[in-house]
Amino acid sequence: MEEKRHPFLEGLSKHRGVEPTVVVIFGASGDLTARKLIPAIYNLSVDNLLPNDFYLIGFGRKAISDAAFQDAMDEAIKEHSRRPLKEDIWQRVRECMSYNSSDYSEVDGFVTLAEKIDAMEASLGRKLQRIFYISTPPNVFGPIVDCLGKSGLAKANLGTSTASKVIIEKPFGRDLASAQELNKVINGVFDESQVFRIDHYLGKETVQDLLVQRFANAIFEPIWNQEYVECVQITVAEQLGVGSRGGYYDDSGALRDMIQNHTMQLVALTAMEPPASLDPESIRDEKVKVIKAIQPLSMERDKGDVVRAQYSSGLDNGEAAKAYIDEAGIPQDSSTETYAALRFTINNKRWKGVPFYIRSGKRMARRTSEIAIRFKRPPGILFSEEGRFNVSDNTMVIQIQPNEGVTLVMNSKIPGLETRMQPVKMHFRYATTFGSNTPEAYERLILDAMIGDGTLFIRGDETEASWELFSPVLDHWAKSGSEGLESYAAGSWGPKASDALLEEKDHEWRHSG
Ligand code: BG6
Repeated sequence: MEEKRHPFLEGLSKHRGVEPTVVVIFGASGDLTARKLIPAIYNLSVDNLLPNDFYLIGFGRKAISDAAFQDAMDEAIKEHSRRPLKEDIWQRVRECMSYNSSDYSEVDGFVTLAEKIDAMEASLGRKLQRIFYISTPPNVFGPIVDCLGKSGLAKANLGTSTASKVIIEKPFGRDLASAQELNKVINGVFDESQVFRIDHYLGKETVQDLLVQRFANAIFEPIWNQEYVECVQITVAEQLGVGSRGGYYDDSGALRDMIQNHTMQLVALTAMEPPASLDPESIRDEKVKVIKAIQPLSMERDKGDVVRAQYSSGLDNGEAAKAYIDEAGIPQDSSTETYAALRFTINNKRWKGVPFYIRSGKRMARRTSEIAIRFKRPPGILFSEEGRFNVSDNTMVIQIQPNEGVTLVMNSKIPGLETRMQPVKMHFRYATTFGSNTPEAYERLILDAMIGDGTLFIRGDETEASWELFSPVLDHWAKSGSEGLESYAAGSWGPKASDALLEEKDHEWRHSG
């Protein structure tokens, strides 16, 4: 049966053509390439969104043949694609794939790559847009960018519609100084318009919908401010532990892995002012402004704005789950946080005094990412009699994942002769309205980079603004070691200590216990 075209794709191909392109993936034998990048490219080709002239070059340190690379990608698609493999389409993509190996700091390997692409252009008789996707461990981001510069690859076709582009994975630096340094290296080689710093949360449909919900509806924007909002709560909870990524994670922790990037993007889109237009720079300007307006976080003992914790043993779906320090690759004395929670206010007219509570952790009770806007109680005197009416706060919950949707909680009269009330929920579910199997974040982001639309990517100053907020926290933790590191049982909603962040204003986490 012919698959129905997803609404996401309607209209896309009408006005968005992709130039003939070669995508080079650095870190081609890595987990992300197999789980996300190649399945995304395959699904773009199923949707007919790749240009007719399309090539993919895997680039890695390990020397393997083109056929071995193609076979590995074959497995990757079978295992990870959201749609089953269609042999005829896959064969066409497979034939466009080849592999190059070199050390990431060996310019010669990049010169060989440049010659290969030049030869492709010569046989095609036209120029190719070069997309360099850096999906390696972060310690080689700098050397790769440097070699792209020295080999001439970065500047190829500059000033034309096939100018090169670089997509850089996270983590973008590990503190403010390293992020600034990395930006310097990148901007020394590429023009900012060629740079696409990826944060895959921005590719999620629900995250993109935030701007539409806020600015295309007349009913929300007038109450989206300190006059009506009691507090904002953003949760990015994962049920999984660190799995096989112990080595990377222990060096990183929840603040660097999730909060500085993904969660702060949710904050920025929730709190930013309306942009002057929908062009990428206007949107990114507003995101930077709001991140810069966040009050610095206090690290004061017992009264600070940040709580960190690590999971101890517990349960995962009723099964015993190990403590973090017993996971593969984690030292027994690790003081890395697997959970972080923070509160802050935003120092601008819209948000003055409204607490934002943010948390993210691994091995929590269940997987849920949500933005909850809790509104103030109506000032009326009507239903105010204590103990009689139980008026609840109105809350708007934007469910990022899973069960993507929006829920509005409001008060309603319980049918009957007395006036009694109960909070009721109005639901909108993406799957019900638009169908499931929506394109994955990486499909949208790779397509946008190929088209040259940077709206859903992070600008250099944006990442620095976020690091500016968190670098002092990380410095403080580095000095304190395990002092102040709380503990929570795997499968719970996090440490008790994080409740204290909300108590001052008599608030509580939406899920707890
Ligand atoms: C990645 C983090 O950026 O995001 C992982 O490195 C995390 O630790 C993942 O599990 C979560 O992404 P998603 O899309 O599953 O919420």
